[in-house]
Amino acid sequence: MPSTNFAEIAPGCNRCGRLIGMDTTSTRNAPWDAGLYDDRHSFVWKHGATLVDLLAPQAGERILDLGCGTGHLTARIAEAGAQVVGIDSSAEMIAEARRGFPGLCFEVADARDFDLGEPFDAVFSNAVLHWVKPPERAVACIKRSLAPGGRFVAELGGRGNVAVIAAALEAAAGETSIGAWEPPWYFPSIGEYAALLESNGLEVTHAVLFDRPTPLDGDDGLRSWVTIFARDLVERIPPDGREAFLRRVEDAARASLHRDGGWIADYRRLRVVARRVDASPG
Ligand code: BEZ
Repeated sequence: MPSTNFAEIAPGCNRCGRLIGMDTTSTRNAPWDAGLYDDRHSFVWKHGATLVDLLAPQAGERILDLGCGTGHLTARIAEAGAQVVGIDSSAEMIAEARRGFPGLCFEVADARDFDLGEPFDAVFSNAVLHWVKPPERAVACIKRSLAPGGRFVAELGGRGNVAVIAAALEAAAGETSIGAWEPPWYFPSIGEYAALLESNGLEVTHAVLFDRPTPLDGDDGLRSWVTIFARDLVERIPPDGREAFLRRVEDAARASLHRDGGWIADYRRLRVVARRVDASPG
């Protein structure tokens, strides 16, 4: 009887050699509910489709998708014929990405501390770098990952992003035992982010800051958003106080963000394209 050839039934990733489908994720608790993220907040990666156009992936290019989440945009990049690796700090997201796209390579990695040991032609990142602090560490890793001349194409929340939601959260938190709460996100201006990239050997060739009012589905759209994107804060509220907290957030945001029968989040995006100009390693 012939022995089982695992490579035939579970093809390996070209880069890491991992048998695709094997779960090599860590067992640490995942901060994300990947199912809820995909069910109710798929607009995050759907908006990113035009960022893939800006990336313009070419067949044969090696591309890193930094903060790939559930892998939808990684798959779009792969459709162009690029060799793409998706990384995310959430083991839950990576498990979901592997389930959804078993032919692609996904790894758990921290955006502040990764080295995949090969130069990439491009690093792509959609809607994740506003979570990463300090941003200097992510930019240093991005620069190190790029081949000389390689490009960095990213979108993140920009200065003023979700300002109304953040103010509503701060006000509602102030009325609980939590008291003062500072938003954990990093939303830089064009000038601030361009300076950071340039001081790391990345030449900025395109940068734009723009409003993207974003409908949140359903009557519970805002509280659903808060539950997933401000989860750390919500979990600090005792369970029996959460309903009142969420109602206070809705009341504080309603005048600005509830229009024509629905919630519209006050998103502002920063898009950048930069190129590695420094040929020295590291
Ligand atoms: C955003 O994608 O703009 C965002 C994500 C998390 C928290 C706040 C904003």
